[in-house]
Amino acid sequence: MKKVLAAVLAIAMTFTLAACSGGGSSTPTTAAPAATTAAAAAAETTAAAPAADSGAKTVGIAMPTKSLERWNRDGDYLKAQFEAAGYQAQLKYSDNDSNQQNNDIQAMIADGVSVLIIAAIDGEALTQTLADAKDAGIPVIAYDRLIMNTDAVSYYVSFDNYTVGVLQGEFVKKTLDLDNAAGPFNIEFTAGDPADNNAGYFFNGAFDTLKPYIDSGKLVVPSGKTTFEQVATPNWSTDTALENMQNTLASYYSDGTVLDIALCSNDSTALGVAQAITSDYAGSNKPIVTGQDGDIANLRNIVDEIQTMTVYKNVSDEAGVTLEVAKALLEGKSPDASLLDSLSADAAYDTSSYDNGTGIIPSYLLVPWTVTKDNLQDLVDTGLYKWDANNQYLESAT
Ligand code: GAL
Repeated sequence: MKKVLAAVLAIAMTFTLAACSGGGSSTPTTAAPAATTAAAAAAETTAAAPAADSGAKTVGIAMPTKSLERWNRDGDYLKAQFEAAGYQAQLKYSDNDSNQQNNDIQAMIADGVSVLIIAAIDGEALTQTLADAKDAGIPVIAYDRLIMNTDAVSYYVSFDNYTVGVLQGEFVKKTLDLDNAAGPFNIEFTAGDPADNNAGYFFNGAFDTLKPYIDSGKLVVPSGKTTFEQVATPNWSTDTALENMQNTLASYYSDGTVLDIALCSNDSTALGVAQAITSDYAGSNKPIVTGQDGDIANLRNIVDEIQTMTVYKNVSDEAGVTLEVAKALLEGKSPDASLLDSLSADAAYDTSSYDNGTGIIPSYLLVPWTVTKDNLQDLVDTGLYKWDANNQYLESAT
């Protein structure tokens, strides 16, 4: 009897605490209608749903794939930061398969999550699923990649994607002193996944920066591949980038033509391209190879001078900004530029750049920066990386 009473009391306390805590956010909340609906849905799900178990609100985090380093970091940081703030977290990776991502998100909707944070595999393929999220009153934050053709997305948190490409282009411009050097220099482009809304921004940022030099003849593209479609790499696949570069080298460089620059949109493609150059390029120079993300393998290649730079995105900060946006949403607020004051990371609030086909999605855009062999210590200073035992390469510190 005593035991039953204790159990009843414990359950009652859990409910009271849940009511007082505002579901895990730091201030007492007036729940938004959306969150109320989601909470009600959560209460109706089975005991297996974490949201119903503890009274804490649950965040549903959908990441694209574990096969690229950065998404592992994003998932870990998001989960840890939301949990530290008192939320429960469901984290799902969908193996770069957009059908699976739809199913994974549907499962989280059915589990009654209070908010969804989604890095889309295919930005065009979530419309129906997100209509269901909207019907269930679950707000959606597009994480890193904009989700197209759905009015269910409340906010977009990312980096300034166009600037990523500009930084790559500027790096080439500066390293080769394009304004003064005689040239001409030969360049080849490798871009990202056409299903990823970011990929075009990265390519355009780099291409626009270098176009004046292509137009003047100072930069030459021996393969003639100068459009995004011609150089896109489905799934950002390292193997595909490797094969494409091998083909390009065989077709246009086997006669001794010098390759000066391999402009790659990100690190996974840079990995394949650098491998192709190492194995299949006959020239004795070291072409400039660009990248993006600061993956450990690429940072190693930068030390070994197989890759020249990467555009670094601090995804721990990206997770932190996302947490603040989600917290505000769950408190029934509509975050705006004033949220920037509460952020520790440098970011801009943008209400003009990202239209997902249903209108502008208000965006928080963090600032990417260039990493080369000369400033690797700056990565260590973020606290996310450390030098290995020989002080030679970087390792993850988290
Ligand atoms: C992009 C992302 C990049 C890169 C790429 C490959 O959407 O912004 O940082 O990781 O995907 O996954």
